Amino acid sequence: MDVYEAVLSRRAVRSFTDEPVPREVLNRVLTAAAWAPSGSNLQPWHLYVVTGSALEKLKSVAVQRVASGDDWDDREFEMYPATLGSPYRERRHAFAEQRYGALGIARGDVEARQRAAIANWDCFGAPAALFCYIDRRMGLPQWADLGMYLQTVMLLLRAEGLHSCPQMAWSMTRTSVAEVVFPAPDLTLFCGVSIGYEDTATRAPRTGRAEIAETVTFVGDDDLI
Ligand SMILES: Cc1cc2nc3c(=O)[nH]c(=O)nc-3n(C[C@H](O)[C@H](O)[C@H](O)COP(=O)(O)O)c2cc1C
Repeated sequence: MDVYEAVLSRRAVRSFTDEPVPREVLNRVLTAAAWAPSGSNLQPWHLYVVTGSALEKLKSVAVQRVASGDDWDDREFEMYPATLGSPYRERRHAFAEQRYGALGIARGDVEARQRAAIANWDCFGAPAALFCYIDRRMGLPQWADLGMYLQTVMLLLRAEGLHSCPQMAWSMTRTSVAEVVFPAPDLTLFCGVSIGYEDTATRAPRTGRAEIAETVTFVGDDDLI
């Protein structure tokens, strides 16, 4: 699989089969992903890979917790700005409409959306998950390093025939994750990433993207840069 194919075939998959992911595959992916770039080569990512009975336990605790309406954990970072201006608000709205529309959930049915969102804490059925932490003393550039690292992981997973779903949702229940992975005290959870083989029977439509002219500006009048 070439890089374009990996990039274009990566999607946030929200339906996995229970086929286990071999440890050696995860090892290979994470060994290669370690070559992701980071400012001054800090490599500020800390990963916990959870599978098997540990993941089953975590899923069951987290799903039960969310389903019973327990309070979320205190936030260590805001997932989104409190007010989203244009064009981000519209993009977020379009995403939610598409995601929940594909599940047959009517616009405005907040309760049904919340019920569907609970699948986050079941890792959408995936048999493996990564939890990506960062030292809370790190700054914005190091958080960006985490993004580059995680995209590298997700592309390498494609090369192995696997799919993934990055999930900040897990940061809302970070204490439940901590009870399973016991992170070092300085670390804070950025997100989880569910990993597995896609259940193609329930494939959701692909998300869209803004036109390139909306997000990219070429400066200069020559074709050769
Ligand atoms: C940092 C990050 C956090 C995300 N958190 C969640 C999440 O908690 N739950 C979820 O279902 N999808 C989550 N997503 C997936 C996005 O919704 C998805 O990437 C976006 O809608 C674009 O769709 P695509 O990845 O299928 O192309 C997250 C993605 C990123 C990059």
